[in-house]
Amino acid sequence: MTTYDGITALVTGASKGIGACYARQLAARGANLVLVARSESALEELASQLRSAHNVQVDVIAADLFDRDAPRTVVDALTERGIEVDLLINNAGLSAVGPFLTRPLQPNIDSVDLNITTLMGLVHIIGARMLERNRGGIINVSSVAGFQPMPFQASYGATKAFVLSFTEALAEELRGTRLRVMAVHPGPVDTGFFDGTTAKLNPKAVTPERIAAKSLLDFERGRTASFPGGLNDRANALASRFLTRKRVVRISASFNRKSGLDAVSDVNSPASDKAR
Ligand SMILES: NC(=O)c1ccc[n+]([C@@H]2O[C@H](COP(=O)([O-])OP(=O)(O)OC[C@H]3O[C@@H](n4cnc5c(N)ncnc54)[C@H](OP(=O)(O)O)[C@@H]3O)[C@@H](O)[C@H]2O)c1
Repeated sequence: MTTYDGITALVTGASKGIGACYARQLAARGANLVLVARSESALEELASQLRSAHNVQVDVIAADLFDRDAPRTVVDALTERGIEVDLLINNAGLSAVGPFLTRPLQPNIDSVDLNITTLMGLVHIIGARMLERNRGGIINVSSVAGFQPMPFQASYGATKAFVLSFTEALAEELRGTRLRVMAVHPGPVDTGFFDGTTAKLNPKAVTPERIAAKSLLDFERGRTASFPGGLNDRANALASRFLTRKRVVRISASFNRKSGLDAVSDVNSPASDKAR
């Protein structure tokens, strides 16, 4: 795949943030889209904007990707509509934040289900169809958080380490085929990722438009890894190779303390969160 014009791309987490930017930029380049997230009205609104602005087909599949059966449900909906996916963008993701032992367990489990289990399930089913056709692309949105342990986002860093390792291994397994796989490693991005908590946005956060644009360009260039936030993110990620693990984990803890993640609390519904 060397161009996005005329392909069909499925984007998870397309209702807002980086996923909505992927959808807008792909539509502008002539890609037909399948938008997936829970917020059906946000997806329908985006779909209708994209249909009127561009000559593309946009489908919406409202699905809760925490659900173990979600990959099968999504693929059944695709089959029912006769849609074959050329590019899968596994973008939906979430992070539990705060000290692991004093915060609710459920968001950690949800993040494993979403960031790992569903991602892997979608890759397995949709990737197998691509392999049969010997054509297609998969972009897994990981994070610089995957390159080292992340105190106060302990399970999140671990899920993204999974995505990093899984994607690199898969890219190598598929070398020599016409199916390409790339992992995207953003640093801080200005989205609603920490909404509902007191966590502060990193002042160096870049726009989600930049993440989508640069990573799509990297994919066109045939890369298997993309650092769309810039050189700083790449350098931070690579530093873990040259420092001791003890030093690296101290640095990442201090980074997350600066964002208030060591003393984070919920701002919208603390009572319901505690109940989980
Ligand atoms: N923002 C950052 O600083 C940053 C940095 C590095 C990596 N990333 C990664 O970038 C990706 C996108 O993050 P973002 O910042 O754009 O986050 P965001 O603004 O919070 O958007 C997350 C998206 O995931 C969807 N989602 C969450 N739970 C879902 C579920 N159970 N089922 C279906 N969809 C679900 C949300 O849609 P609904 O709520 O409508 O379901 C939304 O569309 C994630 O993988 C994240 O880990 C973000």
